[in-house]
Amino acid sequence: MTKFTDIKGFVFDLDGVITDTSVFHSQAWHQVADKVGAPWSQELEDGLKGISRMDSLEMILKAGNLSDKYTEDEKVDLATEKNTNYLKLVDQMTPANILPGIKKFLDDLKAHNYLISLASASKNAPKVLSKLQLTDYFPQIVDPQSLTKGKPDPEIYLKGAELINLKPEQCIGVEDAAAGVEAINAANETSIGIGDPKILAAADIKFNDTGEMTLDHIKSQMN
Ligand code: BG6
Ligand code: MG
Repeated sequence: MTKFTDIKGFVFDLDGVITDTSVFHSQAWHQVADKVGAPWSQELEDGLKGISRMDSLEMILKAGNLSDKYTEDEKVDLATEKNTNYLKLVDQMTPANILPGIKKFLDDLKAHNYLISLASASKNAPKVLSKLQLTDYFPQIVDPQSLTKGKPDPEIYLKGAELINLKPEQCIGVEDAAAGVEAINAANETSIGIGDPKILAAADIKFNDTGEMTLDHIKSQMN
């Protein structure tokens, strides 16, 4: 395993790591599932984390055996409706929506000269960061529209490292989603999984919640 002293940068997921927008995404997708008549389950909710907008819709339709029921245009309409509902929730966000310990962790990273980038699948990431007043911490954001494949493909995490001019081995990726941890591992970065350790079993380093994520705790899990 990579040594803590080899680490020079952090590549962050956004939803469910920096802020609890994963709850808002789930709420808005649940509405779509109800509308089309697809069954909602905890397993589906967990599986949607980290997955791009259109791929998420496909997963919901598949869960209801509805994949062939809608035209491409109708699918775009459903995804747009979800996004409109999601953005209504985002509009109410303030810095109080930053998850516990994250602001301090970002300040510690800056104080120790670690480089930072964002590897979120969300096209709304710049807007969410702005609502949280965290834009200045993330000068480098992977543009999800530039990707050919979504998580669990490693592409987004490889780009996150590239944006800060580091080799993947010099980066730690931080995720709350199983698909995201898989992407970090496939990119050859060290993975931190935040949340249910059973769902994030593949992560190199695990924390139950963001409040536990400190440089000291990371160092002790790596050495
Ligand atoms: C990920 C979320 O960060 O972004 C997913 O975990 C979401 O739930 C995906 O579907 C795409 O987000 P958006 O905002 O572009 O629809
Ligand atoms: Mg996430």
